[in-house]
Amino acid sequence: MKKIKLQAEIEVASDISELNSTDAMLLLRAKEVAKDAYAPYSNFKVGSALLLENDKIVIGNNQENASFSVTICGERNAIFSASAQYPGVAIKTIAITVISSKGNLETPVPPCGSCRQVIYEMETRHKNNIRIILQGDSGDIYLINSIKDILPLLFDSRYL
Ligand code: THU
Repeated sequence: MKKIKLQAEIEVASDISELNSTDAMLLLRAKEVAKDAYAPYSNFKVGSALLLENDKIVIGNNQENASFSVTICGERNAIFSASAQYPGVAIKTIAITVISSKGNLETPVPPCGSCRQVIYEMETRHKNNIRIILQGDSGDIYLINSIKDILPLLFDSRYL
């Protein structure tokens, strides 16, 4: 039997000062909006800031519900909001961060599978890659060039 290797490389910055000014601004915006998440059940607040092709910034954070499954993730909140407000406009970059009640998060928290699938839908819709910037409260910052790098063997409309 043959084997197929699925692998990707991402960039890792050790401090926000290593980012260009646009990426740094976007990450700081995500950190701001994480504070406004409505997460009384998990106490896990996710903030997301998108930079669009028209240079607008759209933000989102997680919105929880007593009926847990109704909760919307921070990333999808931002993406659906951008899609509603600026339907024909591609997303260039998405910054994601988290504030956890368990204390200082020193590792980046990657987007869940559903959010990855939605980010990929936006990549295919607008035929562009979406850069992803991840950081916890502090520590390493992951710079990912496309969701394809962290969503191998993905599902899309070519199979429909
Ligand atoms: N959450 C997000 O906002 N994004 C993710 O990618 C993973 C999880 C939220 C959902 C829920 O409000 C809380 O984090 C705990 O799962």
